[in-house]
Parts: sequence; structure tokens; C-alpha cells
Amino acid sequence: MEVIIKSNYDEICGEAAGIIQQEWQKKKNLVLGLATGITPLGIYREIIELHRKNEIDFTDVIVFSLDEYLGLEKDHPQSFAYYMKENFLKYVNIKKENIFRLEGKPADIETHCQEYEEKIKSHGGIDIQILGIGRNGHIGFNEPGSSLSSRTRVKTLAEETVNDNARFFKNEQDVPRFCLTMGIGTVMEAKMIILLASGKNKSEAVFQCVEGPVTASLPASGLQLHPQVKILVDEEASSSLTRKEYYKWVFQNKDRVKDHLK
Ligand code: F6R
Repeated sequence: MEVIIKSNYDEICGEAAGIIQQEWQKKKNLVLGLATGITPLGIYREIIELHRKNEIDFTDVIVFSLDEYLGLEKDHPQSFAYYMKENFLKYVNIKKENIFRLEGKPADIETHCQEYEEKIKSHGGIDIQILGIGRNGHIGFNEPGSSLSSRTRVKTLAEETVNDNARFFKNEQDVPRFCLTMGIGTVMEAKMIILLASGKNKSEAVFQCVEGPVTASLPASGLQLHPQVKILVDEEASSSLTRKEYYKWVFQNKDRVKDHLK
């Protein structure tokens, strides 16, 4: 795991957007896995800005959404499809046929999830998966207890997640209780994973994710087994990490490895 600590939220978003742009330069038909929530908004803002300056182009980029609430139409203002369109996709030149997402109202849940997995495979897999992290350590909507090898499927949201989400809905009874989400096994197949966390309320989950034991009880800890994960955190979100100074040291020195071969 590469832990990158920056002083504030804007800096972690700038760093994440920069990584995505660098990878796009190497592979123009980049396959991106996209998360919703408050945390990735700054990355989308940065990428839109890069696109406006002609520094990234989406003609061949393909995107897959990480999750979706069950029961919401794609035009529902709280659906993840709506979020993705309004906060990102409508501002870049992505082709409609290159946007893949989980349906809120699929005709058959199992078939839909299976087909989603197959679609990801048919595009050569996800190159970069963007993730946020829940206070309980969930990634996607893989709540604590989710199998670390789970695939795309329906999940019951944890009570704390329902409570966290309630602020986005007018009435408490409208808050969805179920969702479709890529599984942890699905996420783990992405070639690179970028997890972002900001703020003190994420510090315990970040600590458990990076320095705790690998356990289904803290789904993000499964990422320790992935070969290319970047954990981008601001000072507050990194405040419980015990090896904070080491991570900073590694980051400062990372360009010096080649110098040692001269
Ligand atoms: C969103 C998602 C969730 C969020 C997590 C953090 O697609 O899958 O795992 O990333 O709940 O949400 P925020 O960023 O709103 O704190």
C-alpha cells in the first residue's frame, strides 16, 4: 500500500486526478471504476478542469459505476446514476456507449449483476478503481462482514450507512435499505486502486484499513492484499496512523530510487 498524506482535501484530489491523467497518457482507452459520495467530488472537479484545458480526453475512456441504490430510477436525484451525470460525466466528452452502471431497477438482479461482471471483463478489466471509505470501513457498499472475495450483488445497507445517507433524503422512510455493489473480489481485480479519505471522522477507518488486521469485519482492510493501492488521505484522516512519518518519508524519497542506480 502506498499511503500519500497531503495537508488538505484539495491536495489529495489534485494528486488523484494527476495519477488518473498520467495513466490516461499511457492508455487512452482507460477503464475507470467510479465511486459516488462526498469524497470523490473534488477528483471529478479536477478532472473536469483538466478536460477543459485539453489535458485529458474521454473519447476512448470507459467508465463503470461502483454501486447503486436498489429501487431508484436513474433520474432520481439521489441515484448514483444521477450523481455521476451531474457531477462528472455531463462535463466531459465521454461516449454514451462507454458508460456502464448498475441499474436501480433491474428486471432480474442476479442476471444483471452477472452481466455487469462480464461487461467489466470484456473491456479488459478496470484499470483504476476510485474508492471512498465508510466510517465502518466499507468500500463500495460492502458492509462489514462482506466476503473479501464477494462479487457484484445485492447488499443490505448497515444501519449506520442508512443513517449517514438520511441527510440526502427528505423522509427517513425514503432512504434505501438495499443496493447493488461491485464485490470486494471485483474491486480487487482492478489493476490500480485509489482510495481517498478526508476528515477526522474517517481516521479510525483509515487506520484499520492500513494498519489493522485483514478482516471481513473491516472490508477496506482487504485492500492490503492488492499489489497497487494508493491511499490518499489528508492530515485529519491520517491522524490515527502510527507510521505516518514513515509514509511521508517514503513519498518524499520515491523519485530517488533511480538515483541509486547511477
Ligand atoms: C460510494 C460508495 C461508498 C462511499 C463511502 C464514503 O459509491 O461506494 O463506499 O465511498 O460511503 O462516502 P463519503 O465519501 O460520502 O463519505
